[in-house]
Amino acid sequence: MNILVTGGAGFIGSALVRYLIDHTPHTVFCIDKLTYAGNMASLASVIHHARLHFFHADICDAAAMTRILESSIPQAIIHLAAESHVDRSIDAPDDFMQTNIVGTYTLLQQSLTYWQALPSKLQDAFRFLHVSTDEVFGDLGHTKAKFTEQSSYNPSSPYSASKAASDHLVRAWHRTYNFPALISNCSNNYGPCQFPEKLIPLFIHNALAGLPLSLYGSGEQIRDWLYVDDHVRALLAIVEKGMVGSTYCIGGDNEKTNLDVAHRICDSLNEMLPRSHEKSGDYKDLIRFVADRPGHDQRYAIDASFIQQQLGWAPQESFASGMDKTLRWYLENQNWVQAILSGDYQKKNTQLYNEKALS
Ligand code: NAD
Ligand code: DAU
Repeated sequence: MNILVTGGAGFIGSALVRYLIDHTPHTVFCIDKLTYAGNMASLASVIHHARLHFFHADICDAAAMTRILESSIPQAIIHLAAESHVDRSIDAPDDFMQTNIVGTYTLLQQSLTYWQALPSKLQDAFRFLHVSTDEVFGDLGHTKAKFTEQSSYNPSSPYSASKAASDHLVRAWHRTYNFPALISNCSNNYGPCQFPEKLIPLFIHNALAGLPLSLYGSGEQIRDWLYVDDHVRALLAIVEKGMVGSTYCIGGDNEKTNLDVAHRICDSLNEMLPRSHEKSGDYKDLIRFVADRPGHDQRYAIDASFIQQQLGWAPQESFASGMDKTLRWYLENQNWVQAILSGDYQKKNTQLYNEKALS
């Protein structure tokens, strides 16, 4: 079938596109604005594939969305395009409101018009999956509770408030127009091709560069980590077998404090690439405690039993195996990070995009 993926040059979107091309027969239509977070190099292994089509477009542009929908004729849309970094949302919320709220509204409205014009058999088969986050539920604190599909919304940051707003829009479009939408709320992802502003890739890069590993506050905040390909497999299970109008919570059952994660990275690097004698010491010597993130949520954790029981999904990677793969990928692909730090990736984006457009 034809699957339209928004945000396909981002971290999770590119993992999804690579997976769809490498492991399924589907034809993939990818939309991405190529913001600072969009990186065509993450699609390099599949970009020239005949089943992949790439549109450089903004989801806030209604006319562009209509053109793309009419030319790609998707049977499913998986919507990942978003501004995704909490710290940036605190410093400059505008783009978050625009893309995450107005952009989701624009895409929803154009998708509704497209869907309403489909023959009824195609209407029945069509799915719109909105990819959201566990952050919409807010802070679990030091309780034993985990987030479920019944958790109430209580977002803390401009990012999570904008994602919560987009979830509400998607539910309203389902209820009011019968639009065949589904929502997923996932915990923290990690893996290859994650922009080095997020905790794990940032700490791997800083450790290798001998720079401080700055933990916010006490470093005791807890996140529930999931390897990105496990998230991708969950998204496909939802598109293929999920019940329209439903929400699915996705998580790895891997609750770790940020300090645990920093130690895990340092311990692995101590074995894989010991620091040179001149610098001496353990990578852990680079850990620092700095001012806390404003509004920092103490704990997130997902109870994923609903998706496990309903759709038979379960993570394939443990935290140990996923971290091992991730560390090896960053060690073997330091040029991917260097191109971001130098800014060259944006030139490469233009080059790869032009090559694809001409092919
Ligand atoms: P990312 O920042 O790596 O990628 C986002 C992509 O969206 C980029 O390629 C960017 O260029 C594109 N984009 C941004 N604004 C756009 C616009 N207006 N029009 C078209 N494209 C635009 O993000 P990610 O970590 O891959 O997250 C993808 C989605 O998954 C987001 O919706 C995020 O909220 C959600 N999510 C992320 C995580 C996580 O741990 N990273 C966990 C749960 C849910
Ligand atoms: O929970 C899902 C969310 O996970 C997604 O919706 C977001 O898109 C994604 O960015 C991620 O949000 P977080 O804020 O949890 O991710 P981040 O990697 O920025 O931070 C993880 C934790 O590490 C968090 O408690 C803040 C802390 N941290 C982060 C950075 C970048 C530090 O202590 N130091 C740092 O330098």
